[in-house]
Amino acid sequence: MTGCIACRISPRPHLSTTIQHDGHFPTKRVRIRSQAMKPTDDRGAVAITGSSTGIGKVCALHLDAIGFTVFAGVRNQGDGDALRSEASERLTPILVDVTKADSIASAARTVASAVGDDGLHGLLNNAGIVVSGPLECLPIDELRRQLEVNVVGQVAVTQAFAPLLRKGSGRIVNMGSDCGQIAAPFLGAYCASKYALEALTDALRMELRPHGIYVCIIEPGSIDTPLWNKSLAEGDRLMKTLPDEAHDLYGPAMTRTRKAATKMAQASIAATAVAKAVARALTARRPKPRYIVGHDARLRIALARFLPSRILDRLVMRSLGLR
Ligand SMILES: NC(=O)c1ccc[n+]([C@@H]2O[C@H](COP(=O)([O-])OP(=O)(O)OC[C@H]3O[C@@H](n4cnc5c(N)ncnc54)[C@H](OP(=O)(O)O)[C@@H]3O)[C@@H](O)[C@H]2O)c1
Repeated sequence: MTGCIACRISPRPHLSTTIQHDGHFPTKRVRIRSQAMKPTDDRGAVAITGSSTGIGKVCALHLDAIGFTVFAGVRNQGDGDALRSEASERLTPILVDVTKADSIASAARTVASAVGDDGLHGLLNNAGIVVSGPLECLPIDELRRQLEVNVVGQVAVTQAFAPLLRKGSGRIVNMGSDCGQIAAPFLGAYCASKYALEALTDALRMELRPHGIYVCIIEPGSIDTPLWNKSLAEGDRLMKTLPDEAHDLYGPAMTRTRKAATKMAQASIAATAVAKAVARALTARRPKPRYIVGHDARLRIALARFLPSRILDRLVMRSLGLR
């Protein structure tokens, strides 16, 4: 038997919150190191949005495998059943569309009744879409849709789950992107959403820290998920709706950017790297405000931080095959 006496008397806080530990200190052996994270019986409950595919799905399965009780947000029963079949019995799919107040409220109620007084150990705001296209011609409703899912939806979900996180001295992990630190042409709407998420994360981190809730953001580079194909298809669909003038102005540049994006997708890394960063954010004794994932993201974020804007613009344009 390892750990402190309080844990032996009441194992629940120790197992569910290796970090918060309800005021008593774990000995060195009971601290869970994220690098060698072993499955334990119960690390507490986490809710995730957008778990049907990609990063959200891999995170749900990884967190389930290392001992979290996962409430995996999906938008239809079929995706929930598919996820369920790959996970342990602890994982429960919940229906949640982050743009629908009723759906969010109902998901929060389901989780509240399941976790009871233990509350939530974590909320992973992961759901996201990419709207691409030249800003000059982008239909304003498309910009609204981008911000509704990637920004407003994240705040709405956070508000609904905050009482449960407060009960569980939990953590909020937002799924940002390196696009939240460095913008790219024809991805203005998406980059704006991720820049906004950075600001929201920073503000929330300061607002909620006195309440015992840590808030951090994951900043992945290119990750191998269906998002790439979805965004290329969406971009193509959007271009078809644009007038001839837009094609004359932006067609060739869009074609080059599309080619560059296809190459980037081919060089993307597996989503497990993101899942490991999320697990670190949820279990580290003192989580970092930001977790960058991938060499490409590390490089881009460093360049954005240190290079003058005009030089950075040129580099970004050149990397997309643009002049
Ligand atoms: N892939 C990358 O290279 C990369 C890099 C940096 C950051 N990210 C971020 O990682 C997150 C996940 O993206 P991904 O790459 O894993 O893409 P993905 O496979 O397309 O997953 C997106 C998820 O969001 C869900 N979603 C979309 N709209 C939603 C809504 N209104 N309500 C609830 N869920 C909704 C999707 O559900 P449905 O299946 O029902 O549509 C899906 O589960 C996003 O926030 C993205 O910006 C991705």
